[in-house]
Amino acid sequence: MERAAVVAGLGGWVPPTVVSNDQLAEVLDTSDEWIRRRTGIRERRWVSPGQSTGDLAVEAGRRALASAGLEGVDAVVLATSSPDRHCPATAPEVATRLGLGPVPAFDVAAVCTGFVYALATGAGLVALGAAETVLVVGADAFSTLLAPDDRSTRVIFGDGGGAVVLRAGSSTEPGALTGLNLGSDGSLSDLIEVPAGGSRQRSTGVPAKTEDTYFTMQGQTVYAQAVRRMAESVQETVERTGWNLAEIDSFVLHQANARILAAVARRLGRPPERFLSNIETRGNTVAASIPLALADGVASGELRPGHKVVLAGFGGGLTWGSMALVWPRLAAHRTVSPEPAAAATEVGMP
Ligand code: COA
Repeated sequence: MERAAVVAGLGGWVPPTVVSNDQLAEVLDTSDEWIRRRTGIRERRWVSPGQSTGDLAVEAGRRALASAGLEGVDAVVLATSSPDRHCPATAPEVATRLGLGPVPAFDVAAVCTGFVYALATGAGLVALGAAETVLVVGADAFSTLLAPDDRSTRVIFGDGGGAVVLRAGSSTEPGALTGLNLGSDGSLSDLIEVPAGGSRQRSTGVPAKTEDTYFTMQGQTVYAQAVRRMAESVQETVERTGWNLAEIDSFVLHQANARILAAVARRLGRPPERFLSNIETRGNTVAASIPLALADGVASGELRPGHKVVLAGFGGGLTWGSMALVWPRLAAHRTVSPEPAAAATEVGMP
């Protein structure tokens, strides 16, 4: 029996502002029919003016702590690629706003794989004995990075936050994380990028062109890479865990596109209904995508204690990664993202 990081709490939160496909079709050359057919997305939530990734992280983190029955943790790891500011990291402010005291707190940037990377980092802190409990948050307000006239990105992304609490436990108990597989390929870093604003552009001394300050993506190549890398990573993790694909109850993959989930299911030879999906109402929420899918899966009853679960992410970098666990029994009362009216009263609470 080895020491392991065990999932002990879960929370998710999305901002109150709903943006429907029809609303986007009023300002972009697109349609509800195209977006649904090509992505599976019907609506998404976007932050309102002044609201930030840190706000989403605080709301998600608060719910995960409540679900774990904890008021404090030993460390905070925040996965985000849309931090509140370029410098410093957003995690220390999130930790302070959650009343967690002077704990170590830092950001991890791996775009849509960010949550899996952060989970691995949190699990590593626990395994080393450096922490007994860790809050791992994935949060992104990607709507703030999108060009107003770019129909290929604007229809895809939603904003949100999701979080889990890890505690030290044993490798044999439900919730223990296992089978880690992580990877990257920097030769394809241009496929998903915000070209301007970093040291490479700023050191030129030439002011950035406005269009270079927005997120860009080469959709078709990214699509093919996402299917291949997530399928391979899942297989690796299942093998390392000593399971086989047929016994996995729930595949919880990064929610990039409903067609990507279906293609991974085909490639792995598993039924599509084993792949949890909340993309219809959430869109692609980047680092929040996997924990939000977990929270929505628990709320809908599709994800149940005892399920064998594989988590898998893919994103810019390129990066990818997977982990496995048996889903534990958690206090689920705080995992449901509130409906718009309820959320509106909670936004921005310290
Ligand atoms: N509405 C209508 N038409 C659109 C559109 C929109 N919102 N976005 C793109 N199109 C058009 C394109 O301009 C293109 O037109 P053309 O043939 O006249 O040039 C056509 O639709 C097909 O474009 P294409 O890029 O081939 O579409 P697609 O089927 O690949 O779907 C994505 C585009 C972005 C939905 C898809 O590539 C995708 O999901 N990629 C992966 C995204 C992802 O996972 N990102 C995050 C990774 S972590």
